[in-house]
Amino acid sequence: MKKSILMATVVATVGMMSATAFAAAATGEALFKAKCASCHPDGGNIIKPKETLKGIKDAKKITTQIRKGGGGMPAFDAKAVSDADAKLLADYIMKTFKK
Ligand code: HEC
Repeated sequence: MKKSILMATVVATVGMMSATAFAAAATGEALFKAKCASCHPDGGNIIKPKETLKGIKDAKKITTQIRKGGGGMPAFDAKAVSDADAKLLADYIMKTFKK
């Protein structure tokens, strides 16, 4: 009896954890598609083809670029992209566009 309660708890916990991980990944991807992919399809750059999003290893570089923009990229203030969303975007970009 005790064992089955424990099992149920483990199953529920693992289920919740994977749901959260999935939501975070989906959100980073959805944000990217909604706000960035128009100029950065597949991590490229349609305006400055050499300034791609590939191989960036510093999340700060991405979040700073989001806030400041420049060089043809619009700045996104905290209303357009929240700090949490900027972090999701940075994680998504570094994970997705490695090379
Ligand atoms: C209107 C087109 C446009 C949109 C929309 C756009 N970007 Fe950019 N982005 C650019 C351009 C142009 C550059 C090159 C800037 C430069 O040369 O300084 C750039 C550069 C960057 C860089 C620096 C790349 C490097 O290696 O130096 C990052 C990171 C970046 N963008 C992230 C994003 C993210 C994240 C979003 C969505 C929130 C986004 N961009 C939306 C046009 C855009």
